[in-house]
Amino acid sequence: MNTNRLSTTICEALNNQMTKEAHAAQIYLAYGSWADANGYQGISNFLFRHANEERNHMMKFLEYILERGATVRVQAIPDPGPNPTGVFDCFKKTFEQEVGNTEAIYKIVKQSFDEADWATWNFLQWFVKEQTEEETLVMNMLDKIKIAGGEKASDESLYSIDRDLGSTDDEAELARDKTVEAP
Ligand code: FEO
Repeated sequence: MNTNRLSTTICEALNNQMTKEAHAAQIYLAYGSWADANGYQGISNFLFRHANEERNHMMKFLEYILERGATVRVQAIPDPGPNPTGVFDCFKKTFEQEVGNTEAIYKIVKQSFDEADWATWNFLQWFVKEQTEEETLVMNMLDKIKIAGGEKASDESLYSIDRDLGSTDDEAELARDKTVEAP
């Protein structure tokens, strides 16, 4: 009896997304190491914490594939690519990476909708929210660095940003959680 509840296309897409999450973790690890080596311990700490989050995302995909009776295919993780050229570049690249990840997830959401695979569609809704949070979080960082002068930010302002990031919240507050009393 066949107990596999995923189509071939959905299974492949989920396996690829699992690798994409592992790739994101490697990117955060690489950027975190770069930040530490350049004296930005707060930024490094933030990026290392996010590397763990991405590993958790990877695990969620892996567990979901198993839960649906399908086959997990652990693949090679692509190289994280070149190091950032500065703090602004670091968060610009991080933002682009998150947007790319969101687009990949949206594609699987669409695929699951087209196939009427409601279990996968439902599973992916957690990631849709998570991506909104992650994009918001990095957008907020970029805003701060832009105010400090972007690529031309002074060492002094980067020092303050770095100090704040060491203890910044890992979750961004989303519009859905806002109220008139707490905008
Ligand atoms: Fe797992 Fe940052 O997306």
